[in-house]
Amino acid sequence: MRRIVAAALGLGVACGALGGDQSASEAIAQYRQMLEDGNPAELMELRGEELWTTPRGPRNVTLEQCDLGLGPGVVEGAYARLPRYFADTDRVQDVESRLLTCMTTLQGFAYEDATRAWYKAGSDLEALVTFIATRSKGQPIDTPVKHAKEVEALAVGADFFYRRSGPLDFACATCHSQDDRRIRLQELPNFENPASARTSMTVWPAYRVSQSAVWTMERRLIDCIRQMRYPEPELGSDAIIALQVYLQHQARGGVMQGPGIKR
Ligand code: HEC
Repeated sequence: MRRIVAAALGLGVACGALGGDQSASEAIAQYRQMLEDGNPAELMELRGEELWTTPRGPRNVTLEQCDLGLGPGVVEGAYARLPRYFADTDRVQDVESRLLTCMTTLQGFAYEDATRAWYKAGSDLEALVTFIATRSKGQPIDTPVKHAKEVEALAVGADFFYRRSGPLDFACATCHSQDDRRIRLQELPNFENPASARTSMTVWPAYRVSQSAVWTMERRLIDCIRQMRYPEPELGSDAIIALQVYLQHQARGGVMQGPGIKR
């Protein structure tokens, strides 16, 4: 499959050179459609479901009592309503950080064990996120901004989005606040434009052909920040969660489509 996609994207480049940008993105859209029945992310979803329902950790229990915001054990629609405030941790949490709360408190994992090599292709954490996200397919993004800490996170996320910093003096907005922008073949979503924000936020986690791996939104954001030459944020840091509150807010109402396919 990897070879087919690589060939497809190669063709896209050629088309782009000959026929302009439109045909390149059309070619990619076409191959994306062809792969829809066989997105490798589906394997991650299955593995994530198995991890969710298998007794694990020092306490040998499943994650089925984990509260993702809609009550213990409710997975359906939870991802579309994250990040959100959780009273037990007194924090706004996204799906990764919430899963880590459950893995440490319910299953008894040490934090270092639960997060070890989370960024490796096919990691347990990313498989669990993929499973949870898939269970929001068809649900509109509806991240709450009610609790004072949710309101604060939205403001911090927006500030991060527009603040120029680092050796390159980039803000997220430098690359993501205009329509029809692209770097090489990759279209850059304009997160100021709700339609564009929805197109992006509804298809993560996504199988990234260039990486041969499923990436979660946290992973995507940490990598954009790394490319901006900022200090690399930690998994589950408040900054990454605040950014997600902002991006979800911009994309609110967009209907989740399950794992996508990206370059
Ligand atoms: C120098 C330009 C640049 C900056 C600055 C930048 N990004 Fe990106 N971003 C990209 C590119 C290029 C991609 C697509 C990467 C790829 O797939 O190869 C991308 C992809 C993304 C995506 C996934 C979009 C999709 O395909 O659905 C999100 C979300 C995102 N960026 C958010 C951010 C946020 C938040 C910031 C600020 C912390 C940021 N980016 C800063 C260039 C940038």
